[in-house]
Amino acid sequence: LTVSNEAPIGVFDSGMGGLTVMRALMARLPDESFVYLGDTARLPYGTKSGDTVTRYAVQAARALAKRRVKLIVIACNTASAVALPALEAALAPVPVIGVVEPGAAAALAATPNGPIAVLATEGTVRGGAYLRAIHARNPEVQVVQQACPLFVPLAEEGLIDHELARGAARHYLEPLLADVKPGCILLGCTHYPVLGPTIAAVVGRDIPLVDSAATTAEAVAALLVERGLARTSGAKPLPNVFLATDAVERMARVGEIFLGAAIPAQSVELVDLQEG
Ligand code: DGL
Repeated sequence: LTVSNEAPIGVFDSGMGGLTVMRALMARLPDESFVYLGDTARLPYGTKSGDTVTRYAVQAARALAKRRVKLIVIACNTASAVALPALEAALAPVPVIGVVEPGAAAALAATPNGPIAVLATEGTVRGGAYLRAIHARNPEVQVVQQACPLFVPLAEEGLIDHELARGAARHYLEPLLADVKPGCILLGCTHYPVLGPTIAAVVGRDIPLVDSAATTAEAVAALLVERGLARTSGAKPLPNVFLATDAVERMARVGEIFLGAAIPAQSVELVDLQEG
């Protein structure tokens, strides 16, 4: 099976949060086109078991592979944290990049000696993937983790600059900050960057917030070059396509908050991951 380097890049998330990663990919790789799939019918992944997340993520990635994408970015932290080996095996030879390694690199670039506070879903925290990825690079760094499950529905509702979001941020962060003063806060979940200003207001401007979007885009750019997969034709890239497993109208409407650009309603299609 050969994939053309003119083919689009697939981007997968459990919902709309991965559009924050797609935004960075579009900025870094303006000559590429993208197919985004949000498994909005089955979100959240972050509260589910590793087995369930793996099964869902493999189904979703196969749906992207059917669209003949040349590379798949697992923009979902939970799926990257618990399902990456299964995804690589299921999709070979299509290369797969997750967001955990780039996120760990971004955190260490911000604060080489830590401590690092990782905010993520329950599934990501439980699996310890960020802990391992950070310690593989520097075993001395202190890492504290905090699951922030309420952030996901708040972001999906677009309640980002809202008293409820500020209350949730205080609830999760004040106890953590009483124990440790982190050198940076790693937003280890696709949905958290849109809550960045609200989180920053609680932690204080002197502690930087980092996420994996920009470093993931760099990793994708490097892999495209390494594998000879970058587009070279110079022709205008195909329009981006958005796939959702539920509520396509909502993705067009709320997705804009995450992508930072309008999503035309006609570019969002409904897909069923369970059919054949
Ligand atoms: N996309 C998930 C992540 O980045 C957050 C939403 C969910 O729990 O499904 O971990």
